[in-house]
Amino acid sequence: MSHFWSGRNVVVTGGAGLVGSHLCDLLVHAGAKVLVIDDFSKGTRSSLKHLEGKIRIQEGDLCQPNIAESFFAGQEIVIHLASRAYGIAYSPNHHDEMLTFNRTLNKRVLEACAQCKPERICVVSSSCVYPDDAPSPTPELPVMTGEPEKANIGYGWAKRELEMEASQLAVKTGIGVAIVRPFNAYSGRYKWEGGYSHVIPMLIKRILDGEDPLVVWGSGNQTRNFLHAIDFARCFLAVTEHHAAADPVNVGYEETIRIADLAALICELSGHHPHLVFDTSKPEGRMIKSADSTKLRRVTHGIQPTISLREGIREMIDWYYRNFSHSA
Ligand SMILES: NC(=O)c1ccc[n+]([C@@H]2O[C@H](COP(=O)([O-])OP(=O)(O)OC[C@H]3O[C@@H](n4cnc5c(N)ncnc54)[C@H](O)[C@@H]3O)[C@@H](O)[C@H]2O)c1
Repeated sequence: MSHFWSGRNVVVTGGAGLVGSHLCDLLVHAGAKVLVIDDFSKGTRSSLKHLEGKIRIQEGDLCQPNIAESFFAGQEIVIHLASRAYGIAYSPNHHDEMLTFNRTLNKRVLEACAQCKPERICVVSSSCVYPDDAPSPTPELPVMTGEPEKANIGYGWAKRELEMEASQLAVKTGIGVAIVRPFNAYSGRYKWEGGYSHVIPMLIKRILDGEDPLVVWGSGNQTRNFLHAIDFARCFLAVTEHHAAADPVNVGYEETIRIADLAALICELSGHHPHLVFDTSKPEGRMIKSADSTKLRRVTHGIQPTISLREGIREMIDWYYRNFSHSA
């Protein structure tokens, strides 16, 4: 990490979440003065426990009027991670909720930025802004290209609005705005959401619980690029530092794995070998999701992942034993 962050007042919305807690680790290490705002609807205090005394934490619901303003005053950089999203079992039946909730949250945060005028903001969008027929690997298409991906259309529209309104704010106020479009993250700090959880924790839990046969949603041929949340956080900070230009940057890479191969990798590393069955009646989302990382590498002077999927899956297996050892 560069000296850019040293001594800076940085507020992290959603800092108790999966990516946020790793991002706080990096900021503290870089010497920033960190304030986390989180309502703990999804984030956990335990994921920040090791930073006790090193960061400030404020509990607050950023959807409520005037909450963000009261915390943003005097902050130099706002990194806006707070959002609501769940796995594919939840999103398709909750598009309105995803749109309305995230729209309100983002509006409040940007209004507070307009009022408090930090030097920079990083807004975290999503690869869900891309349409289902986007080319793969997907370059940074203009935000209004087609419709957002169908499986997450409400969430995707809210992220598009966030990008557009943050860009407008940059023009109106001169605030530096970084826009990141992440693909798929995971880490051993994942908070289990039961049947609504994301694909890696879901497969780990079901395989290590001993489900046999293991029914996998979709054909198994859908492919994804997965990046450890530490690497997500490194990329968010690098883009904020080097490219606060109201210009979206993908956070993800070209390499993908088929969901069938992901399940097989988990089986290999965990020593469980259920019979895999693919249920094509269940939603599987876009067939290929991979990022064109050209711009990410260009604006960050060549940032690369530090944690391989194999290492990350081992960490997720440990996550399972820490969280569910009673059923192991
Ligand atoms: N994890 C991924 O694969 C992925 C992919 C694409 C985009 N993103 C985006 O990256 C960002 C971080 O993702 P994550 O995986 O860490 O998410 P997360 O759900 O783990 O963290 C979000 C945090 O926001 C908090 N929060 C939610 N509503 C709030 C509110 N009203 N007020 C205050 N805090 C609130 C939650 O408690 C949680 O700690 C999000 O904006 C997400 O949309 C994530």
